[in-house]
Amino acid sequence: MWEIRQERAEDAPLVEALNAAAFGPGRYAKSAYRLREGVAQEASLAFVAVEDGVLRGSVRFWPILVGNDPALLLGPLAVQSAQRGRGIGIDLMRKGIAAAKELGHAVIILVGDEPYYARVGFTRLPPGRLKFPGPVDASRVLGLSLKQGALVTLSGTVRRPRLDEAVCAQGAGMG
Ligand SMILES: CC(C)(COP(=O)(O)OP(=O)(O)OC[C@H]1O[C@@H](n2cnc3c(N)ncnc32)[C@H](O)[C@@H]1OP(=O)(O)O)[C@@H](O)C(=O)NCCC(=O)NCCS
Repeated sequence: MWEIRQERAEDAPLVEALNAAAFGPGRYAKSAYRLREGVAQEASLAFVAVEDGVLRGSVRFWPILVGNDPALLLGPLAVQSAQRGRGIGIDLMRKGIAAAKELGHAVIILVGDEPYYARVGFTRLPPGRLKFPGPVDASRVLGLSLKQGALVTLSGTVRRPRLDEAVCAQGAGMG
């Protein structure tokens, strides 16, 4: 059985390798990647699944703004290909969502498959309510309220809250 714990500095290269294997080079062209580029992730919300000393999966969150409201962007979420279907992905997300709630975040959004993310409570947002930097499939824009009503009032342009110089200097917001 795996253990979910917070990502540590020494996990980062393994997490990046996992994301590279799961998403391939095409990930850099995605709208979600553009929102992460040059911005540090929410370090307190990065979790890894470890089993027998092996990193099996990872979830990270990024801070974003929707209109002028702070929100979180879930992802990347990835599990080693040979370990999928065991519940690791859901377990990682549950930990991350619970921690985000505890830290007082109001809402999480993501771009992904609704049938999967519905398992942890995500629902589709009305098409056009959020405007991403670049094209996204409207049926894949999902959200989860951590505070009552937070999703109902969420609308506008999705953008980066700031640029972090240290991340810019590395040349990436990896993943
Ligand atoms: C998506 C991913 C993280 C799921 O991780 P996982 O550990 O296999 O997921 P879980 O074991 O918690 O859940 C598996 C269940 O979800 C279902 N599921 C997985 N991906 C799904 C999808 N895209 N749509 C609908 N259902 C899906 C599986 O069929 C399985 O169902 P079952 O429990 O009825 O057998 C993993 O497949 C992965 O790393 N994929 C490549 C990267 C990726 O696409 N990430 C998501 C985008 S951010």
